[in-house]
Amino acid sequence: MKIIVLANHKGGCAKTTTSMSLAVTMASAGSRVLAIDLDQQGNLSASLGADLQELEETRLTSYRLMLDEKRDFSDYLIKVRPRLDLIPACLDSDAEALLEGQSVSRELLLKQKLAAAHPAYDFCVIDTPPSLRTPTLSALAMSDLTIVPIESSMFALLGLGQLLRTISKVRRAHAPDMQLMALSTMYTSRQNLDKGIREKVLEKFTEDFVFRTTIPRTVQVGQATATLQTIMETAPESAAAFAFRKLVAEIFEVLGYEQEREAASKRNSR
Ligand SMILES: Nc1ncnc2c1ncn2[C@@H]1O[C@H](COP(=O)(O)OP(=O)(O)O)[C@@H](O)[C@H]1O
Ligand SMILES: [Mg+2]
Repeated sequence: MKIIVLANHKGGCAKTTTSMSLAVTMASAGSRVLAIDLDQQGNLSASLGADLQELEETRLTSYRLMLDEKRDFSDYLIKVRPRLDLIPACLDSDAEALLEGQSVSRELLLKQKLAAAHPAYDFCVIDTPPSLRTPTLSALAMSDLTIVPIESSMFALLGLGQLLRTISKVRRAHAPDMQLMALSTMYTSRQNLDKGIREKVLEKFTEDFVFRTTIPRTVQVGQATATLQTIMETAPESAAAFAFRKLVAEIFEVLGYEQEREAASKRNSR
């Protein structure tokens, strides 16, 4: 199971939209995917069909999983699409406080809990909250590929230095093989401002570490969000849906996944 984390403590840069679109695209193309919502706003959970009110009662959420010493991750799964399972999140400030209060290696709790999930999935996509606290650090500590979505607007680059320093620290401590890539989101190629921001991103990350694919700003994405659906389902032929499919192909390339699959199918055919 390869773990893909969407991280940027800036809100509104399309972490959730990207997480959801990647998870749905990968699952519909045949991969077995586990999506994890680590944002207590529960946007990813609601968009994939979880009932947030019910969750407040059952408390079968990602935060409670990290604190659970008895039950297995599989007790927390919701089947949301064919081949796509979700571990959801909802508002639960007690769980958040308990998690921050754990005295020993709290950022490794999720990694430990999900060790058993590896054989069951090809990919795990983790959506993180707009902060650099324990939930985000937990995701980074187990990440194979961290994607930093950067929206094409003023202020998008503010605070990026702090984010990159935090990612580097977690990488050194827990995930030495993690790859880090930036993604331009809400991008309009005709606008000079957007082009200028992308140039700065290319400078900061260097070209090799920025996805060639850009995600266009389109009204259909907003409409899909408003109806708790994904662009793949509401407008599969739109430019944004096309971009997300291209992004998945690029992610496979970055992770060496196509080669791995080809090698496996060659082995099997022998
Ligand atoms: N490509 C896009 N085009 C238009 N609107 C977008 C696009 N991507 C995201 N949005 C909108 O921007 C808002 C913030 O996106 P979201 O994914 O929730 O960001 P985050 O999770 O980083 O806070 C949402 O209302 C979403 O519908
Ligand atoms: Mg979000």
